[in-house]
Amino acid sequence: MRKRVIFITGASGEVGQALLKELAQHAENQILTMDLHPLPPELRSLSTHVEGDLLNLRLLARLVSEYEIDAIYHLAALLSTRAEIQPEEAHQVNVEATLQLLKIAAEESQWRKRSVQFIFPSSIAAYGLPDRETKAHFQRVREFEWNQPRTMYGCNKLYCEQLGSYFSRYYRQLAAEQPPTIDFRSVRFPGLISAYTIPSGGTSDYAPEMLHAAAQGIPYACFVREDARIPFMVMPDAVRALLLLARAPRAQLTRQVYNVTSFSLSAAQIRDRVLAAFPDAVITFQPDLKREAIVDSWPADIDDSAARMDWNWAPEYDADRAFSDYLIPTIKQRYAQLQL
Ligand code: SER
Repeated sequence: MRKRVIFITGASGEVGQALLKELAQHAENQILTMDLHPLPPELRSLSTHVEGDLLNLRLLARLVSEYEIDAIYHLAALLSTRAEIQPEEAHQVNVEATLQLLKIAAEESQWRKRSVQFIFPSSIAAYGLPDRETKAHFQRVREFEWNQPRTMYGCNKLYCEQLGSYFSRYYRQLAAEQPPTIDFRSVRFPGLISAYTIPSGGTSDYAPEMLHAAAQGIPYACFVREDARIPFMVMPDAVRALLLLARAPRAQLTRQVYNVTSFSLSAAQIRDRVLAAFPDAVITFQPDLKREAIVDSWPADIDDSAARMDWNWAPEYDADRAFSDYLIPTIKQRYAQLQL
């Protein structure tokens, strides 16, 4: 008998760590995690962890022979800045590994005669506005607007959304008996900010980097202009969004890809909030024109009314609560503990 599990890829990354902590709170969840890197020591008891590469097909085949996968949270990805530096590698990780996992989910669904759920975090990077004037004009973008990404990562995410939809509707459906397909669901996240972890290789990273640098008394040079603006969300809301979407009755869903967001702030507004909490912080602006251009191509805000309507999505943290109730107190406590 294979052991039934929920499978999290990219589990050592930011969202992965937060999601693992949350899923592990329910004793009935047996969790299999995978990442190129080990889990941090405090999370190691929460799952069976496999250190390895998703592109290693033999390793994936071994996992499928040992585990019966109920649901896949496919979080592994190279983020947008890193993907511009290594575009072909990004395509392999972000697209080819996703294709392999979709195939595994489809085969499992057919074998079990029950849909395997495939939860896929997509991104604001799936959008691409051509210039700052257009961005200023179209403030809140809906899912089907401006799907012309300007980054490899954005192209990868947008295509994998389509691939997921294809697998859930048409993959191997020509046979007369039409076997069950996967249950593919995706959220497009804005920039994410965690009090515990700092992302690496993303382009929305200036917000968490600024905050974590200030909390440690390290000067920070922000790589976008003061008025550069995109939406953000704190990590507890990001994990809630994934779980709410996963638990929503399928019949209620009118789409497979949903925007979710919390608050939209300019880099200067983030600086002001950080300075209010850490008045001695040294924060300057030294734009990196390439990274700034990526941020300028992302919408200033996204419209998440479909998620609100279909599966009762609403963030618990607006900008005020995000900083006052979660980010600032948690970060202060965390770095104080690390100094002991
Ligand atoms: N946070 C991601 C990045 O910056 C966007 O989804 O690449």
